[in-house]
Amino acid sequence: MYNSTELTEKINAEVANIQYNAEPKNLYEPIRYILSIGGKRIRPLLMLMGYNLYKDNVDAIMNNALALETYHNFTLLHDDLMDKSDMRRGNLTVHKKWNENTAILSGDTMLIIAYQLFNKGVRNEQAWEAFIDATLGVCEGQQYDIDFETRNDVTEAEYMEMIRLKTSLLLGYALKIGALLGGASAEDVELLYAFGEKMGLAFQLQDDLLDVYGDPKTFQKKLGGDIVDNKKTFMLINAYLRADQVQKNELDRWMQAKAPNSEEKIAAVTHIYNILGIDRLAQEKIEALFAESLQCLEKVNVPEEKKAPLRAFAQKLLGRKY
Ligand code: IPE
Ligand code: IPE
Ligand code: MG
Ligand code: MG
Ligand code: MG
Repeated sequence: MYNSTELTEKINAEVANIQYNAEPKNLYEPIRYILSIGGKRIRPLLMLMGYNLYKDNVDAIMNNALALETYHNFTLLHDDLMDKSDMRRGNLTVHKKWNENTAILSGDTMLIIAYQLFNKGVRNEQAWEAFIDATLGVCEGQQYDIDFETRNDVTEAEYMEMIRLKTSLLLGYALKIGALLGGASAEDVELLYAFGEKMGLAFQLQDDLLDVYGDPKTFQKKLGGDIVDNKKTFMLINAYLRADQVQKNELDRWMQAKAPNSEEKIAAVTHIYNILGIDRLAQEKIEALFAESLQCLEKVNVPEEKKAPLRAFAQKLLGRKY
C-alpha cells in the first residue's frame, strides 16, 4: 500500500518520462513545458489510490493515470486561453509564453495523446466508457462556465451543476476508473465515485475562494481573475443574495463596466464580499462538502487501514494553499 506522497513521486517520474515525437518542436515543447512546471497530480493520484484499495501493482494502470493527467493539462491550456489567464503553476501560461495558436494546437495534441495513453493502458470496457463520459462532461461544464459570464441570473444550483461537470467529473471518474480496474464491487465503484464527486465540488469552491483570498506568494495563479471575468461563482451569486440595494447597484456597475481597471474592480468586489462574510460562507460550504465526501468513503467495503491514505489525502486537500 502506498501513501499519496509516494504515489505522487511515482507519477511525477512517469510524467517526465512520457515520450513525444521530436518534431515539430513548437508543437511538443509547450506540452513538455506545461507538464514540467508543477501541478498537484490529483487526478492520476486518485486513480492510483482507488486502485490501490484493491490491488498493489499500481504501475499496471500507470498509462490510464497518465492519460487523465494529460487530459487535465489539455483543459488547462484551453481554459487559460478562454479565461485570459497569464499565470499557471507560478509560470507564464502557454498562450503567453508562446501564442494563442500554440495553446490551441498543443492542447488539441494533448487531448489526442490522452486517448492514446488510455488505450495503451489496461483495457476495460466500463473504464473506457467512464473516460469518455468524464472527458466529454468537462467540455460541457466549461461551456456553461463561459455562458454564465454573460448571464446575471445564474442560480447556486446551476453553478453547482456547472462545477460538477467541469471539475468533479474528473475527480469522481479518476476514483471510479481506479476502482473498476482494481476489481471493486459495483457498490464500491459508485461510493468511490460519489466520494470523488463531492470532493471535486469542494475542490472547485476552494479554487474559487483562493482566486479571491489566496496568498499571492503561494497561490501560483493571478488573484482576482474570476472577478475580472464576471465568473458566476458561489461567492458572487451569494453576494448578490445577501447584498442590500446599494451593494447590488455597485456590483451591477462593476459587472457592466466596459473596460474597468482590473485592480479597482477586484478591490471593490472583494470589499463587498468582506462586508457580507462571503469568505466564511464559502469556507463553511467547502467543509460541509468535504465531510459529505468522507461519509461516502466510510461506506466503502474495504478494511479501515486501506482507506487511511485517501482520508489523509482529502484532509490535506482541505488545507491547500494552491
Ligand atoms: C486546476 O486544477 C483547475 C481546476 C479544476 C480548479 P488543479 O488545481 O488540480 O491544477 P494543478 O494540476 O494542480 O496545477
Ligand atoms: C477550470 O476552472 C476547470 C477546468 C476544467 C480547467 P478554473 O478556470 O477556475 O480553473 P483555474 O482557476 O484557471 O485553474
Ligand atoms: Mg481558469
Ligand atoms: Mg475556467
Ligand atoms: Mg479558478
